[in-house]
Amino acid sequence: MKKFAAARIGRSGEGEKRVLQILKKNQVPTELIADVVASVSGSWRESVRKEAKQYLPKPTVVEEVVRIPTIDELNVLKAVAANGKAVFASNCAVCHKVNNEGYDFGPKLSEIGSKYAKDGMLKAIVYPSDGISFGYEGWVLKMNDGSETIGIISSKTKTDIEIKMPGGSVQKIKLSSVKSMEQMKTSMMSAGLHTAMSQQEMADLLAYLDGLKRK
Ligand code: HEC
Repeated sequence: MKKFAAARIGRSGEGEKRVLQILKKNQVPTELIADVVASVSGSWRESVRKEAKQYLPKPTVVEEVVRIPTIDELNVLKAVAANGKAVFASNCAVCHKVNNEGYDFGPKLSEIGSKYAKDGMLKAIVYPSDGISFGYEGWVLKMNDGSETIGIISSKTKTDIEIKMPGGSVQKIKLSSVKSMEQMKTSMMSAGLHTAMSQQEMADLLAYLDGLKRK
């Protein structure tokens, strides 16, 4: 499957069903999972979005069980930035853009290597809720019909609100249909992402991010 096709496969009723099927059967190459899941993030059916998201690479083990690697342990490994790019594509791109790749949800990371050294980067990945970037806080909206919408507020007027979801889709909501809104105390960035990677993959990922410098 090509990346282009992966990002579009879910954009129809039939496509959505197919996406859930191939994810369930493990037929999606790891590096394309994020794209395939993102392709249904615009689905109006919450159940489809939720089910697809379960297949995103994520901790299958309790966080405490997988020890968090220290920067010293990672630094002794021979890191390959090009491999880190692939780690990024499968674990991070569903929520972050680097230049023109990936999806617009969390902050753009095209120059993240100028902001953090590797140890700071590791902390940002392992403890996402420790310092939530301004403007990227998550919100829980309870609707009058009893449903719930969770995302980042990308714009707000007196009457309307736009909520961004992982995968970059945007949902427009009338404020009159919102019963209450509450800001989340935790980050919308999933905790425990490190548990889905080997130490080598984490080292490669950090090398890749470290190379993303302001020009
Ligand atoms: C489910 C969506 C999601 C995924 C997956 C995700 N992130 Fe994030 N990330 C966010 C959001 C939202 C923020 C901003 C809120 C915050 O700071 O916690 C963020 C913040 C960050 C920051 C801090 C940016 C800054 O300018 O301070 C870094 C670095 C980062 N993410 C790296 C990664 C890496 C590397 C991965 C993959 C291993 C990843 N993220 C996966 C959503 C995500």
